[in-house]
Amino acid sequence: MTTTTAIAATSLAADDDLESVNPPGDPLGTSAARTRSAALEAQLARDPGRFRVLTGDRPTGRLHLGHYFGTLHNRVRLQELGTEVFVLIADYQVLTDRDVADHLAEHVENLVLDYLAIGIDPARSTIFTHSAVPALNQLLLPFLSLVSVAELGRNPTVKDEIAHSRQSSVSGLMFTYPAHQAADILFCKADLVPVGQDQLPHLELTRTIARRFNDRYGNGTSVFPEPDALLSAAPLLLGTDGTKMSKSRGNAIALSAGADETARLIRGAKTDAERQISYDPVGRPEVSSLVLLAALCLDRDPRQLADEIGGAGAAALKSTVIEAVNEYLAPIRARREQLAQDRGHIRRILREGNERAQAVAETTLDEVRSAMNSRY
Ligand code: TRP
Repeated sequence: MTTTTAIAATSLAADDDLESVNPPGDPLGTSAARTRSAALEAQLARDPGRFRVLTGDRPTGRLHLGHYFGTLHNRVRLQELGTEVFVLIADYQVLTDRDVADHLAEHVENLVLDYLAIGIDPARSTIFTHSAVPALNQLLLPFLSLVSVAELGRNPTVKDEIAHSRQSSVSGLMFTYPAHQAADILFCKADLVPVGQDQLPHLELTRTIARRFNDRYGNGTSVFPEPDALLSAAPLLLGTDGTKMSKSRGNAIALSAGADETARLIRGAKTDAERQISYDPVGRPEVSSLVLLAALCLDRDPRQLADEIGGAGAAALKSTVIEAVNEYLAPIRARREQLAQDRGHIRRILREGNERAQAVAETTLDEVRSAMNSRY
């Protein structure tokens, strides 16, 4: 079979479905990704310098404790292990589900502040934005040629976002952003992408695009690696209303919140009628999430902590949580406040990160042009 027909057979077959490769009951392939992540963690511990990590956030508001214990903490851990880390502020992706980029510049600055405050070190890690790296964005064009409209339409995370979107119609950007996300990951040839399970379909698409590009244009070599998702064992923190902590639900505790505001939010958090405190995430999600939050801040076992509070009830639990969170966040908040005094410094760090990312993207784009025979 020639390369061209091999591509035709793999890329445009109607049943080449991202969902169908995963077992029923696990449409995102979480179970396989967990097993793979454990193996990758073992390799990371042995040889952290072998990997390049890329992660990103949409700049839609301030980062909160759910982000912190879900992903941010892990990025700092990877950086400290000695792995090269790229942190993308995905400003174009904000436009997938809203018409106006209100306060975008402010959100971008706040994200940089949050990153620096939690310990992302710009001397070792690269912080950058989509819109400042044209060579990254250009990769989107060849990448879009490698995926079918049907495949884009079957992405379960995009489907879910469309279903929950407040927009009256679905934009082309919403439909195609996972291919753009492939460019985010592949421009720097990242091989590890720490994400939550909702991002697994995007990683699957990224791998597909890398494979198809290599098959079609690689001439026997591989231009792009096939990156892996790194699912962290991160616990799910609930917001103060007992649903998933999220900036859009107004139930989040921001890293930048003051100590008093934090206390007020935690005092108002939903609990249940039972006085005895226990750690039972399935049976008592709200109480358990509070116990977990304190345990994470104190680096304690949540069960033991719950037993210690025992019959003292929800008010005692909340006092423990408030103290633990405020103590844990105190140095982060102090650092954030200090950094916020010098906006010029923040902008400089971003400009340097953008320049670094653009240089890396140019090199990759050059390789892509060579592979595609489009060097004129
Ligand atoms: N889609 C991610 C989110 O909504 C953000 C993101 C954009 C991202 N590009 C990325 C995450 C590349 C990991 C890798 O949170």
